[in-house]
Formats: sequence, structure tokens, C-alpha cells
Amino acid sequence: MINLIHNYFFDDLSRAFLDNAAKCTASGEVYKKGDFFKLNMPLTSIYIVNDPDVLKYVLIDNEPKYEKSRIYWKELRRVIGKAMGSVEGDEWTVLKQIQKSFFTKSQVERYLEDVRNISNEGVFALPDDQKINLLAELSATNFRIILKTIFGIKTTEGNIHTLVKIIDDGEAFIFWRSKYPWRPFTSIFTKRWFTTQKSLRICTDWVKTLLDHKHYAKNSLTEILLEKGYSYNHIRNEMIIHLGASTETVAVAECWTVYLLTQHPSWYVKVKQEISAHFNEGNFDPVQFPVLTACVKEAMRLYPPSHAIVRDCVCEQGDLIAGQKINKGDVMYISAYGIHRNPNFWQEPDRFIPERFLHNNEKNIEINTYFPFGAGKHACIGKYLAMPMVLTTLVHLLNRYTITFDDTVPKEPVSLSTLKSKNGFFVNLIKNQQI
Ligand code: HEM
Repeated sequence: MINLIHNYFFDDLSRAFLDNAAKCTASGEVYKKGDFFKLNMPLTSIYIVNDPDVLKYVLIDNEPKYEKSRIYWKELRRVIGKAMGSVEGDEWTVLKQIQKSFFTKSQVERYLEDVRNISNEGVFALPDDQKINLLAELSATNFRIILKTIFGIKTTEGNIHTLVKIIDDGEAFIFWRSKYPWRPFTSIFTKRWFTTQKSLRICTDWVKTLLDHKHYAKNSLTEILLEKGYSYNHIRNEMIIHLGASTETVAVAECWTVYLLTQHPSWYVKVKQEISAHFNEGNFDPVQFPVLTACVKEAMRLYPPSHAIVRDCVCEQGDLIAGQKINKGDVMYISAYGIHRNPNFWQEPDRFIPERFLHNNEKNIEINTYFPFGAGKHACIGKYLAMPMVLTTLVHLLNRYTITFDDTVPKEPVSLSTLKSKNGFFVNLIKNQQI
């Protein structure tokens, strides 16, 4: 349903959007207003897209008219620099061409052993019987997996948590900078700017040491980029952006799934039974777990780690969508959180119903209403690797521990660079008897 509403600067809806964009786009109030409408924000017009046809128009059919937005990706480029994730046009095409062979389904098959080993080591090392920050711990494991599989770098040193934190803080800073149009200019006078610059220097030194000492595998992306003449700084950028795009998104998907399972004991039991039946010496294939897979997909429907895909209109003469003139520079905020819960396309949208993804039911899902990995030419390059990572770590985690969250109230999603939980993901792990 297309409906255009012009809000005034800083009315309740605009404020709710700035406060928690994902949640705002999925409120009953918003769905009543329509699936495509305009918010007049400070110095910017933002179109909220909760409609799959507008998504298709922007991301697929008219993709040259819409580029990665100054909200997040372009800011990333300003702060970090050029890499596949932060450029457009010919530069993007060349980098995508170089990198895509590292992410195909058949290539991911070759990574599975590394994924299993690193995930097992990470889960095995988790302290039990005490409160832990699950998101930070799983992010560190994902960090190691991406470095080993894609960049051919085996991490042995103990500074992984520092690097994960640097990347996490950097993402938070970029997200914060892109929230208001003046912040890219004013933020350089803040302490966070200096901290980010210092963090970048730490990353530069770390990458330089790795490359100088040839601590990377043959035929890895690192080696290929070096052979093609890319600079150390460019390789640093690729690492930062890939690690930024992957470690926390995967960990967020893992944490929300665990949380939802603890909230839905009957599914928790089914998943545990499935794991007990197929967990053989850790040498398993993630496709053996259809129930767990369905729970992960449903968790990513309810809590898509990348909660929105954002584009800026770059067409000189603007564009026309559903009779509405879109001006050059207007922002299209395609809400994954909003479309994934839109009652026009989903029955009981707020309920955790993994059956939606079981027994061939996926074919009933309307096209472009479920897109945790995006759509169109910039859809996630790592999507075939992401699912095995999530499944493998969850199999290890749920096989080894019984997990409890210490929250007494339901978790509140907050839209940051990924869709996190307001109170974090703090859990207690109790080792299972048979281990
Ligand atoms: C559950 C995990 C993941 C989710 C939910 C996710 C989601 C997404 C989404 C929605 C996009 C599109 C953004 C846009 O169009 O603006 C994207 C792009 C991207 N993702 Fe992922 N991602 C995940 C894991 C990964 C992994 C494992 C990697 C790589 C190691 C990765 C690397 C990237 C990169 C580099 C881009 C930019 C692609 C481009 O510019 O063409 N992501 N991801």
C-alpha cells in the first residue's frame, strides 16, 4: 500500500525514527499510515520503505539511480577509506570481480573444516558458570574465522578482543556520525574522532606486521590483492570492512537465535534433539540441521542483523515512484525490520514461528519480503559463508552448554550499525552432563 505523508520537522514520528529506526518502522501506527512514506528530517528527506515493490524498484530494477547511502556506507568510506564495501561504480566492479570467487558456495564448502575447528575452539574456551557477554565472545570467534578463511591469516596472538572492540567501536562511531548531516563535520572535534584515528593506526601496524612477515596463506584474498598491486592500506581497509560487515552480523544472528530458543522451550528441545542425532565427533555438515536452520532464518526475520538497506537517489533529474517526485539526495530507507514484520505479508508477524521455513513452506513467502542478506547487486557477498558460520557455532554452543539469559523482561531491539539488544546478550553457560 503506497501512502505518502509529509511530516514536519521533529514531529513524534521523526523523533521515534531517530530514537530507534527499526522499531519505529514496524509500529502499528506506521503500518496504518502505509508502506512507503516520507519523513522530513533535519536537512534531509527520508523515505521509509516497507513495501517489497518499492524495494525491487530501488535495489534491483533501477539500481544505477540509487547508490549506497551517506548514512553509513559513504561515511565508512570517509573514515576508513576505499574497499569493496565502501565504493561504487567501476571501482566496485573491479573489486567484486576479484573477490567473488572467495565467497561462492563451492568455495565455502572448502572452508567448512576451518569454520568447524575455529568455532569449536572458541566455544570450548568460553568460561562457564559465570555471566559472559555472548555477543563479544562470538564476535571474536567470527573474527578468527573470517581472517583464516578469506584472508588466509591464522591468529594466534591474544589481541583479538582488542581488535574486535576497535572494529565494534569504529562501526558505532560511523553510525553515530551518519545520524545527523552535520556530524561528519563536527565530529572531528570530538574525542571519538581521535580514538578512531588511534585505532586505525593500531590496525595499520597490525596489518603491516602480518604482511611484512608474510603471515598469510597462498591463494588467499590477501595474497591475490598484494599480487594485483593493492597497497597495504587498501588491504587493511578490505580487512576492516569485511570484518566489520561479518563478525558482528553473524554474532547478532547467533545471539538472537539463542535468545529466541530460550524463550520458546519446545523449539529449544527440538533443536537439541536434532543436534544430539547428528553431532558426530564435531565432523558435521551444517545442512544436517533443518530445524536449527529454520530457527535461525526465523530469528533473522524477527531480528534482521542488518535492519535496513539505505540508498541515496543520485539521479540528476530525480526520480518518480508511485507518483511521488524523489529528489537527488533523498534517502530511501528500506526497512528489513519493517518488511519482515509487515502484517500485509506475514501472518502473526511478531510471533516466532520457525515452520515458516520448514517443510517447503519457504515457497509461500512473497518475493522481496524476506531479505536478511539484502537484494540486488550489493546483496551480501558473504551470505553463503554466513549461514554455515551461524549453524556451526550454534551446534557447538547448544551441544556443550545449557544457556540462560539473566533478563526478566523481553529483549528490546535497538537499531545501531546492527540490530543489537538494548541490554546486551549476557548469559550464563552451564556445561551439559555428557560433555
Ligand atoms: C548473518 C550475517 C550477515 C548478514 C545478516 C549480512 C547482511 C548484509 C546485507 C543486508 C548487505 C547489503 C547491504 C546493502 O545493500 O547496503 C551486506 C553486504 C555486505 N556484506 Fe554481509 N551480512 C552477513 C555476513 C557477512 C559475511 C560473513 C561477510 C564477509 C566475510 C559479509 C560481507 C559483506 C560485504 C563486504 C558487503 C558489501 C557488499 C557490496 O558492497 O556489494 N557479510 N551484508
